[in-house]
Amino acid sequence: GSNRVHRIAVIPGDGIGKETVPEGVRVLEAAAKRFGFQLQLDDFDFASCDYYARHGRMMPEDWKERIGKHDAIFFGAVGWPDTVPDHVSLWGSLILFRREFDQYVNLRPCKLMPGVPSPLAGRKPGDIDFYVVRENTEGEYSSVGGRMFPGTDREFVIQESIFTRHGTDRILKFAFDLAQKREKKHLTSATKSNGIAITMPYWDERVAEMAKAYPDVRWDKYHIDILTAHFVQNPDRFDVVVASNLFGDILSDLGPACTGTIAIAPSGNINPERTFPSLFEPVHGSAPDIAGKGIANPIGQIWSAAMMLEHLGEVEAGRAIVKAIETVLSEPKLRTGDLKGPANTVTCAKAVADALG
Ligand code: NAI
Ligand code: MG
Repeated sequence: GSNRVHRIAVIPGDGIGKETVPEGVRVLEAAAKRFGFQLQLDDFDFASCDYYARHGRMMPEDWKERIGKHDAIFFGAVGWPDTVPDHVSLWGSLILFRREFDQYVNLRPCKLMPGVPSPLAGRKPGDIDFYVVRENTEGEYSSVGGRMFPGTDREFVIQESIFTRHGTDRILKFAFDLAQKREKKHLTSATKSNGIAITMPYWDERVAEMAKAYPDVRWDKYHIDILTAHFVQNPDRFDVVVASNLFGDILSDLGPACTGTIAIAPSGNINPERTFPSLFEPVHGSAPDIAGKGIANPIGQIWSAAMMLEHLGEVEAGRAIVKAIETVLSEPKLRTGDLKGPANTVTCAKAVADALG
């Protein structure tokens, strides 16, 4: 046996999460066997609308104690709008994880895969391969502000953006570290210092300051408006793109959209200091329209498993899973229905596990 043991909290949640998470686990276990590490997998039934139906809340009061000591959280999806309103299910689970576990990095790879048609004409696998790094805790999404004189002519609203040096520097450090580890060693910063003339020049200043510690990383910056155009017209230009909460929110949907389908897109909500567990989940939701049929594409979940392993230091295993995904997607008969193939959730995931060897 190996002395590398990773303790994972496994939370399927709702809908297709209950189908894709076991398939992600299948591939994780295959990777553990092949690369010689051990997994201690603990299953939890909370953060789901079924749990809500039984207990009148999304999670037990001591949820933090139950999963706070794990090395990572492997998450499916939450939401079942027929029984629990989406804001209740989301704010009672995922949002609490992100906040209480200080997962200040939202990380999304944008990679064009074989077998997945890109909405961008003339792009082939290999042309698009970058990460969006979104700040996840401050910036434009603050609750500082208010409304006065409601319903009168004097009515006004204010919502302040918050950029702390601590919050700005830590997201930039994560992004530069990531860029440094990649082959292209290139970082792009999203700004808008022409229009947002206080916080964004500050952001730019901190980028320039952080860059000094990474002399081997090339970096540039674009205003967010033209940056969105470049995502569509010149996606091959990017390697690591770092952005504030709002800009990152937009870019982290636009990036994966340029590479095809949300069914295969993964994401990480990361606490890089490892004070708390980080959470890895597919970008898609619980897909009530196809839940229970066994036809969901498991690739987003499996790719999330690969990201989790990289985070846990099993870099080789993580990369091997991504390679196995590419192998499977290259084979039309191994693709699921959303990609016009005949495979189902289980057969597709088994093929990925097999491709790992
Ligand atoms: P969704 O991502 O669940 O589904 C959108 C469309 O994509 C559906 O037609 C679905 O069938 C399809 N789709 C999604 N994943 C797929 C997969 N793996 N394979 C094949 N097809 C797939 O988004 P929607 O419908 O807006 O939300 C449904 C529920 O999920 C809501 O309760 C929502 O709040 C929740 N949600 C949860 C997220 C999370 O847990 N992080 C993220 C997004 C939505
Ligand atoms: Mg979004």
